[in-house]
Amino acid sequence: MATAWLRALHLIADDEPWVFEDRAAADFLSRYQQRFLQRLSAMPRSWSRTFRQRRDALTAMRSQIVVRARYAEDALAAARERGCQRYVILAAGLDTFALRQRQAGQDAADAITVVEIDHPATQAWKRQQLTSQGHEQVENLTYVAVDFERDRLEERLPATASPQFVSWLGTSYYLSREAISATLTTLAETSARGSELVLDYWQQPSTFDLSAALFWGTRVATAFQQEPMRSFFRPSDMEKLALAAGWTVRENCAPIIQDERYLAGRTDNLAVPSFAYLLHLENSLR
Ligand SMILES: C[S@@+](CC[C@H](N)C(=O)[O-])C[C@H]1O[C@@H](n2cnc3c(N)ncnc32)[C@H](O)[C@@H]1O
Repeated sequence: MATAWLRALHLIADDEPWVFEDRAAADFLSRYQQRFLQRLSAMPRSWSRTFRQRRDALTAMRSQIVVRARYAEDALAAARERGCQRYVILAAGLDTFALRQRQAGQDAADAITVVEIDHPATQAWKRQQLTSQGHEQVENLTYVAVDFERDRLEERLPATASPQFVSWLGTSYYLSREAISATLTTLAETSARGSELVLDYWQQPSTFDLSAALFWGTRVATAFQQEPMRSFFRPSDMEKLALAAGWTVRENCAPIIQDERYLAGRTDNLAVPSFAYLLHLENSLR
């Protein structure tokens, strides 16, 4: 819910060009949240600039959310150019790719096949939200319920003969190291050679600055919500884990590179927090 809210807020609080344009995210928000966004967008720009001029936790978090989504969908677009026909969204949450693909009026024949995998409770809630808003089932979308800590992914996600693209965003920090490693291994073993995977991970800060305050604040907040964050990695450790699971590293993208690539020259204050990394992998196993 928080990531959908931040993707929707980006289109109102931040300046154009948008880093990631998700016009379906607001559909998932509560009436109260939607009303807040409507009021914000009705304000004169000079009033709402408090959002754009501040370097605060909300801005940093919003930067991370929109940059990671953009990074994954840019890589997906490049994979599609190379012929990839299946997009697996692990821990999809309120991801709206399938909805946006339909809204864009893409022909079912041209549209990529989407598989959304998520915790059974989250997925059931999302599907119920979609039904209650009158959304019809999206034609080329399949839902698969998996708990990464308990279920065997390989039993739910059949092996593919041709390369697929997988995104796994906003999740690694909530899982145990064992569950991350097992999921990476299963994905490598069940994806065809040339398949790609994009995921994000956090590195625990070693100094205390604004990013560190956000990191520790988020840990406290998520712990209070009974969803504690558990796993953090140094970039070299994350690479080792991925290599051991059968992946090769295309890019281990540091926050400063994300800023240069997606946020340079902006007139708002978007900046990725210094603990948020992105990893782009390619399957070299099968
Ligand atoms: C912060 S959301 C990220 C959603 C989406 N990928 C995004 O970037 O907006 C975290 C997601 O991880 C999923 N998740 C957390 N623990 C899980 C588990 N043990 N098994 C499966 N999914 C899990 C949640 O259901 C939720 O959809």
